[in-house]
Amino acid sequence: MSQDVAAVVLAAGKGTRFRSDTAKVLHRAAGRTLLGHILGALEPLGLGQVVVVVGHQAEEVAAEADRHGIEGLSTVLQAEQLGTGHAVQQALPALQDGIRRVLIVYGDTPLVTASTLSDLLTASQDSAAALLSAHAADPHGYGRVVRDDDGRVARIVEHGDATPEQRRIDEINAGMYAVDRGWLERSLGGAGTDNAQGEVYLTDIVEHLVAAGERVAASVVDEAEIAGVNDRAQLAEAGAGLRRRHLHGLMVEQGVTVVDPATTYVDVDVEVERDAVLLPGTILEGRTVVGERARVGPDTHLTDCEVGPDATVHSTRGVEATIGAEAQVGPFTHLRVGTRLGPRTKAGAYVETKGSTIGAGSKVPHLAYVGDATIGEGVNLACGVVTVNYDGRDKYRTVVEDGAFVGCDTMLVAPVSVGEGAYVAAGSTITDDVPAGALGIARARQTNKEGWAERRRER
Ligand code: UD1
Ligand code: CA
Repeated sequence: MSQDVAAVVLAAGKGTRFRSDTAKVLHRAAGRTLLGHILGALEPLGLGQVVVVVGHQAEEVAAEADRHGIEGLSTVLQAEQLGTGHAVQQALPALQDGIRRVLIVYGDTPLVTASTLSDLLTASQDSAAALLSAHAADPHGYGRVVRDDDGRVARIVEHGDATPEQRRIDEINAGMYAVDRGWLERSLGGAGTDNAQGEVYLTDIVEHLVAAGERVAASVVDEAEIAGVNDRAQLAEAGAGLRRRHLHGLMVEQGVTVVDPATTYVDVDVEVERDAVLLPGTILEGRTVVGERARVGPDTHLTDCEVGPDATVHSTRGVEATIGAEAQVGPFTHLRVGTRLGPRTKAGAYVETKGSTIGAGSKVPHLAYVGDATIGEGVNLACGVVTVNYDGRDKYRTVVEDGAFVGCDTMLVAPVSVGEGAYVAAGSTITDDVPAGALGIARARQTNKEGWAERRRER
């Protein structure tokens, strides 16, 4: 059914009201660009074709559209942004032969869902076109849906062109339409720029269709789904709405405990599994995945991290790090890019890791820096251990093999290795490899000066 439908996504505008050097549709909310959200809603529909109209920062916007890997997606250029109708005119020549209906959406309505768009397609089946509308508490700025005496859709009037009386209409145009291809082509052929902005309004096709005796159906949905993002305040509101919806799904559908949704920020692409607990002050971004029964937070910020089942992560910052099953992390731990903590590991307070693998059951409980290291299984890196991985010019690796014990306040000057089951005495600065089973000790021997304190007092 959907193979004869093409989506046209309007994403050429600058977004003047954003006051930004970046095109509006590239701004992010809840972990995706605005364009990414609308493409995410289109993807499950399995449409025959998706055409994204680009203009302002065309290259970057086209690259972002391609990044989502949607089948049948192409871009067309609207070199000058002469309005939403003009944008659709640019897309028409790109439509393939088999396309019968066109689903038009704007790139700045990130909250709409796939099921609402699917309902819109269904609503359009018996008429030339259907549009989405909503009754808004504050309709300011939106186009209004004007109905005739019988309640049928008559036309859309933009806020800027509306009479004071029309501005009192609370039914707003969402900017999403399903239109018969033939009617769309005929109607846009005659569309002009007779309006406040001097643009070709896509919304004028409604009046054309009605004048030609056609019916335009309206699918009225909840206003929360169709909010348009025109400035930064609306961007923040949309982000909050997207996160609220995602958290609700995690709680109600996945069985995740979220102690305080108001202080828990979870991007829409983050996955959290059953019986996990998210404590207040948790921020989960990007492609982060949290496994079953894991406990994350309070005050934990993870970006593109993987947290294994039954792990606990407390007051921690992590970026592109993997935390194994039953691992214990925090408080005040910084897991930098390329950290791989194995199962049942411990990375404790004031520990920083980077580019390092820490094997199953190994512990780094306090005040340590582990960078560019391969740490085996069952290793103990005691308080204050530092991998000295940088000589001011190049980075080197440290290897600590299974079962080794590295005492407190040890400097491991890389490249260096500590063999299986070896010990390193506290306070050592290790510059040579320690063989398996050996004790490495590298510090000045202590001397005690008997009676020294008394002699000092006498002086
Ligand atoms: C539009 C609708 C309005 C509706 C509102 C819903 C028109 C004339 N008005 O107003 O009825 O209530 O959306 O959010 O359609 N774009 C282009 N090329 C252009 C102009 C715009 O691609 O030449 C794109 C923009 O990038 C944006 C989208 O179209 O993604 C909508 O444009 P915008 O200027 O935000 O329209 P609104 O004033 O919000
Ligand atoms: Ca808009």
